[in-house]
Amino acid sequence: MKTPARAFAFAALLALLSTHAAAAPRWWQRAVFYEIYPRSFQDTNGDGVGDLNGITRRLDYLRALGVDAVWVTPFYPSPQVDFGYDVSDYEDVDPQFGTLADFDRLVKEAHKRNIRVVIDFVLNHTSDRHPFFIESRSSKTSRKRDWYVWRDPKPDGSRPNNWSSSFGPVAWTLDEKTGQYFYHYFYPQQPELNWRNPEVERRMLETVRFWLKRGADGFRLDAVNYLYEDPQLRDNPVLPELRFGSTTEHEQEKKYNRDLPEVQDAMVRLRAFNDRVNPESVLIGEAYVPKWEELMRYYGPSNNGVHLPFNFFLVMEPARSKLDAKVFRSVIEASEKALQGRWTTYVLSNHDIPRHYDRLGDGKNNDLIAKLTATMLLSLRGSPFLYYGEEIGMVTTEPKTVEEVRDPVGKRYWPLRKGRDGERTPMQWDASTHAGFTTGAPWLPVPPSAKEKNVAAQERDPDSLLNFYKRLIALRRRSPALLDGDYASLGDDPHVYAYRRRAPGQTAIVALNMSAERRAFKLPPVMRAGPFVYNVALSSRPAPGHARGVSGELTLAPFEAVILTARSL
Ligand code: GLC
Repeated sequence: MKTPARAFAFAALLALLSTHAAAAPRWWQRAVFYEIYPRSFQDTNGDGVGDLNGITRRLDYLRALGVDAVWVTPFYPSPQVDFGYDVSDYEDVDPQFGTLADFDRLVKEAHKRNIRVVIDFVLNHTSDRHPFFIESRSSKTSRKRDWYVWRDPKPDGSRPNNWSSSFGPVAWTLDEKTGQYFYHYFYPQQPELNWRNPEVERRMLETVRFWLKRGADGFRLDAVNYLYEDPQLRDNPVLPELRFGSTTEHEQEKKYNRDLPEVQDAMVRLRAFNDRVNPESVLIGEAYVPKWEELMRYYGPSNNGVHLPFNFFLVMEPARSKLDAKVFRSVIEASEKALQGRWTTYVLSNHDIPRHYDRLGDGKNNDLIAKLTATMLLSLRGSPFLYYGEEIGMVTTEPKTVEEVRDPVGKRYWPLRKGRDGERTPMQWDASTHAGFTTGAPWLPVPPSAKEKNVAAQERDPDSLLNFYKRLIALRRRSPALLDGDYASLGDDPHVYAYRRRAPGQTAIVALNMSAERRAFKLPPVMRAGPFVYNVALSSRPAPGHARGVSGELTLAPFEAVILTARSL
């Protein structure tokens, strides 16, 4: 029996521990994530398509780079219409990518190196070749008919409403045999699951259990904001602007098929299920939404939804204005204001958007600009997501003729829209034929730039972008201010975007000269007691003209990025 005093002390200790546990950052808050598009990373069997064994082979490279987690895009059995985002079996590996045993080995080897493995979960739609859909379309009375969104034509035979498909033009396809239309926000080969049917949800949650039991560390939830549709299927308002790539189709406000409130409830249930199976597993939601308030809902009413709704604002806003200190500052300030201390992600490139190396580059100083944007990505308050190849400055290499295009959306809208092949070209490992990616014929051509721009060459050059990423990640890893500190913008210079990150014991100042001129940056007055001197912890210039200790003013070379640190008093 415990005495009351001992019981009290025990309870107090427990309370202390749990407060501490609540405050301690979760692994994914401190992680540097690295997105791998498996088709294009490393082929090991000579078929020209990357595979899971290729990722395993390159784990030491990833460890040396300093990443803490990989996110692997779909490798499940699939007809590959949308290169894996059309899943025909959720619980297996497509033979082009390997086997379940290869997956197990990848997880085991990654974990040995302290790298976590996050996988893609395509829960909004299946392939039209998935047995669920085959059964669903077999007859109007099929047991799985209601697993998808089927509707009768309008009396004149036309489609049930005006919704457009993301890949164009329309989101409904008539099934001749049963005389009804099915809904697909993406390609017709990607019919939408009906999440209003509880059996669908139950079955999809089983997929979560399957992969968590196999050792996955979390999920990137694909296109999660399209999970539910308006039950009345009302028409979406049509906007005056033309959609990207088309001269006839108009954009729509996706009022009735995106971000319906029901999505948030489903996320809360998914999170609860996830936490029951493995509370360490992270949920990362893909939701391109126009406004911050909409993204905030994904966190759940009491932070019990998705852990990390992808924050694409850094991609969406500056895309229009290139490198602009004012735009970056305002995007991050808006993020911080909306987040109210919640954790976020930062991302500049992925498999759906042109690479930022050329998107944000000015064509003359791209390497310097890539170092500057890397500094920003890895020093903001949030978890950074790198996209394979950005650490060596891979460029977007679009197909030159329509015959070369592999991504169906590029075929459809050629030449105004060339599809996503440009950002999915094979990883450039060395200067050999096919850049060390494959010994066969690569599924997408290796960019000509691979001859000079590759991992092997950059490993040898101390000033390369690759070595800069390594230094930056290493600095971040040992800096409490960069990992956990709060954020405050410094000043309103139109050319220098600067901010302070402050944690107990350390303050970091990041100054990014987003112009081609030399610029003076005034250090802020000493925060608490002073005076104290900042150390130049990192500069993107090989031989920066700064003394090691800085106080007062700092002159930044064109496009220079500097991180200063000091002990907080
Ligand atoms: C997501 C994926 C994209 C895919 C689409 C349909 O947006 O990132 O690549 O085409 O979903 O699954």
